[in-house]
Amino acid sequence: MSLSKVIAIANQKGGVGKTTTAINLSSALGIFEQKVLLIDADPQANATSGLGILPKNLSNSIVNLFRGDSDIELCILDTQSPNLKIIPGSIKLAEIEINIKTPHLNRLKSAVETLRNQFDYIIIDCSPSLGYLTLNSFVAADSILIPVQCEFYALDGLRKLLSTIRNIKKSYNPNLTIEGILMTMYNGQLIHNKHVVNELKLTFKDLIFKTIIKRNVNLSEAPSFGTSIFNYKISSEGSTNYLNLSQEIMNNQTSNKQKHLGKKISQILKDTQDENLITSTAKERSIDNLKEFSLKKRITIN
Ligand SMILES: Nc1ncnc2c1ncn2[C@@H]1O[C@H](COP(=O)(O)OP(=O)(O)O)[C@@H](O)[C@H]1O
Ligand SMILES: [Mg+2]
Repeated sequence: MSLSKVIAIANQKGGVGKTTTAINLSSALGIFEQKVLLIDADPQANATSGLGILPKNLSNSIVNLFRGDSDIELCILDTQSPNLKIIPGSIKLAEIEINIKTPHLNRLKSAVETLRNQFDYIIIDCSPSLGYLTLNSFVAADSILIPVQCEFYALDGLRKLLSTIRNIKKSYNPNLTIEGILMTMYNGQLIHNKHVVNELKLTFKDLIFKTIIKRNVNLSEAPSFGTSIFNYKISSEGSTNYLNLSQEIMNNQTSNKQKHLGKKISQILKDTQDENLITSTAKERSIDNLKEFSLKKRITIN
């Protein structure tokens, strides 16, 4: 049994908070003295630039791992965050995805296995697709963390993602589990945000992380300074949220919760068979609630 844990952060939807979570979860784990490697597996390389490294000027990157090069050590760079190293992303990754003739879904796994003994956590930031690169990440990972934005259509695509995970689990990676579903960009002042969270909790139960990431402008500003929330504004709510998330993940690892979660994928697929139903119930309830809300308001105004 290996000591390290490999977590892929994935959702084929773009803009749900994958990269923000990859950067700040990795940095938070580092602050708690875990040795962390962040692998940027997105051709857009946002996690790389978000940590102040310019992907353009690099001769070694994640591409070496996909090529099966043996000099992986050359690709590991230091960051400004304590205990955090990175294998930077590269736009050339997109060419690999397009030009691949015989897809080897084990490419990333082979590389990651050689690095396990050096790190406590290896975090992979996936691209917004379920293509070759992401499937490689699912094969390489021990668990998958799924960020979901608190909005009406949060469930869109989640079933497809879960069934892809199940297929990889069946054919390539029998021990693969779901680390958890992370609600992101939560705004407590919006009624519909609350409803979406309640609805998802009903459906996914303890698969939803207790920690919810609130919408926090500092989280969106930090990458333009090339650093994590902790170097940018440690006193912010975003900083607290990601510290809590990292604690929750460290606690998960010491309990046997994940084995239990892993077995539940097929049950969840059954429960969410009609995902439109769930989405529309959430929507209807929120609309009802909004009506009620405006009604009350009118009453008090009159
Ligand atoms: N909790 C948050 N509060 C405010 N803005 C956020 C938050 N999480 C992400 N963002 C912003 O939303 C956008 C999409 O987030 P990102 O992490 O890049 O998503 P993905 O990697 O899934 O495409 C970015 O501009 C990011 O700065
Ligand atoms: Mg991203």
